[in-house]
Amino acid sequence: MSRVGRWIDERIDLTGIRRSLLDRPVSQNLTWWHTLGSATLAVFLVQVVTGIVLGMYYSPSPDHAYESIRYLERAVVSGATVRGMHHWGASAMVVLVFAHMIRVFTMGAYKYPREINWLLGVALLFIVLGFGFTGYLLPWDQKAYWATAVGTNIAGTTPFIGAKLVTLLRGGSQQGAATLTRFYSLHVLLLPVLLVIIVGLHLFLVIRQGVAPRTAELETNAPKRTSDSGYPAYYRTREHESKTGGYRFWPDIIAKDVITGTMVIAILAILGRFVGAGLEAPADPTDSSYVPLPEWYFRPFFQLLKLVPGSWESAIAVGLPMALVVVLLLLPFFDKRSTRSITKRPAAATILGGIIISMAVRLGASMRDQPKNAVAPEVGRILTSTERAGRTQFERQQCGGCHKLAGMAAVPKKEDAPDAPELTEVGLRHSTAWLHSYLEDPVRFHPDSKMPAYGPPTLSHQEIEELSRYLSSLRGLPALNKQPEFRDTFPEPLKAKETK
Ligand code: HEC
Repeated sequence: MSRVGRWIDERIDLTGIRRSLLDRPVSQNLTWWHTLGSATLAVFLVQVVTGIVLGMYYSPSPDHAYESIRYLERAVVSGATVRGMHHWGASAMVVLVFAHMIRVFTMGAYKYPREINWLLGVALLFIVLGFGFTGYLLPWDQKAYWATAVGTNIAGTTPFIGAKLVTLLRGGSQQGAATLTRFYSLHVLLLPVLLVIIVGLHLFLVIRQGVAPRTAELETNAPKRTSDSGYPAYYRTREHESKTGGYRFWPDIIAKDVITGTMVIAILAILGRFVGAGLEAPADPTDSSYVPLPEWYFRPFFQLLKLVPGSWESAIAVGLPMALVVVLLLLPFFDKRSTRSITKRPAAATILGGIIISMAVRLGASMRDQPKNAVAPEVGRILTSTERAGRTQFERQQCGGCHKLAGMAAVPKKEDAPDAPELTEVGLRHSTAWLHSYLEDPVRFHPDSKMPAYGPPTLSHQEIEELSRYLSSLRGLPALNKQPEFRDTFPEPLKAKETK
């Protein structure tokens, strides 16, 4: 140890911590399955780091959320990869938490003396699902908007408190700005704090109690039930014996944990970089034709709801998750037989197998009838209500008969239609003010213009303004990092009039 190290150690006894934390003896039965918990922890750390980066760019308001994500994706170095890792990390957390739980279940590790840690684990499962649900809304694209609408509607079927619950979640009766800030706050403030506290307790108990000895070692000559008076003494003897093999927490356990953790993070990096997170069209609350689809780990449940008859739907929608919570919480207190290995617990094996198979089947079914929703429209951001009114005018006046948007003609071009400029990026070329004057009377700007004049009485002043605002919003597909360079030229008489 260096002089500085000794100086510090003398004062705060780091060696003591090392001895009790890293050098403590462990049982020799640790399989690769035992690394699932720490792999979950590794992914959580990835989520924290990538989440902090995302938070630096994200803006939690309906007007800017989508645009801020698009900006991150297109204009920030590695932005898309970071977001992709966070997206896949969310799925990885769910998979790993489930796998870890299944490991604990099949090895009977929730039995004496680890009941409390099982309860903490159940809480962590639901916190991770909560992260998934709240995070899904944040990109504010169609998928996010409508899946959350379905999710909150399901919450709304809860008896007695349903309506209150929806208002609480949405911050009002409608899903909008208040919903987004609420979900954001839950996602980045409440849930992380809860998770850190509970993970802390969970790990504290793992360190206090150690890892359970081999199931076989805990079954030979064991009292029948963990509640029998002789069981604690029996358990302690067995545990002590299992720790005499000379295995230490460091490096015997940590090494395996590091290998699994590194592999999982590498997989996330590859998925984040090469598959990414995807972004649909911006949320359009008026587009009720969109068929929503929740994140895959909610789909088995979502798909199940489609199967049950309408009158049963709310009972299942609320009843099933609640029943699941209750069963999971009560499990260690009712299952007190001392057999641990799943091979000796046929009922447990059947139930677990049944759940896994039925979830897989439901997931498969929901993948099969995946809806085909419309792809991103020409405008890469959510429109304000004025701009949306302008878009309606654009369709009603058949501007698309001459002008293309995003390389596509909205209506087939008429035989005699003149060649008109594409309007995909018109918002980069002209200011709203210029567009307004131009639409009123194009000939004033270009004497031989073939563009019809739309000034009153064809369109009112207000309608032209809406149309101009809409055109202004057309800034091309990949154009978030582009700044407008207006090339407005006003005709002489207009200038003269204005100066008068
Ligand atoms: C009959 C075909 C036709 C229709 C219909 C039409 N335009 Fe045009 N538009 C043109 C032509 C041709 C030009 C180019 C002529 C010019 O320079 O003035 C043009 C130019 C424009 C420009 C200027 C583009 C630029 O980059 O300078 C805008 C903006 C525009 N149109 C918007 C609209 C809108 C909005 C509508 C519907 C309300 C519409 N147009 C309907 C033919 C049409």
